[in-house]
Amino acid sequence: MLLKFDLNGKSQSVDVPEDMPLLWVLRDTLQLKGTKFGCGKGLCGACTVHLDGNAIRSCSIPVSQVQNKKVVTIEGLGQGQLHAVQQAWIEEGVPQCGYCQPGFMMATADLLQRIPNPTDADIDDNITNICRCGTYYRMRKAIHKAAQ
Ligand code: FES
Repeated sequence: MLLKFDLNGKSQSVDVPEDMPLLWVLRDTLQLKGTKFGCGKGLCGACTVHLDGNAIRSCSIPVSQVQNKKVVTIEGLGQGQLHAVQQAWIEEGVPQCGYCQPGFMMATADLLQRIPNPTDADIDDNITNICRCGTYYRMRKAIHKAAQ
């Protein structure tokens, strides 16, 4: 199936099976490796990207659903610069192994669009990604910093 969509601000065409998960297309077809594979079942959030401005888990979305829509990955989040979330992540030294962090940053950017100054409860309710290193405390500080 020939698909067209906007990827990180540029028009993108791919010829892939329509039921292929978006994550596979991003990583294997388009070689954008910033979006990570964790569980492959929509549970961990490592694969989080934005679809028309909303955080989604790309392992659980068939690529046919992005036809003519806008996809943003961690590579395009800051549009050529560091996004405020990425800057806060650096300043707070959030990552440990780092593997899950792109997904957390994408989920955080989505949260801050919807709730510009989230409380700790808002963060807990909305950021449901999983970090095996347990960087949640530093992430929470970085989210508050990015919200300033
Ligand atoms: Fe998609 Fe875990 S890899 S939610």
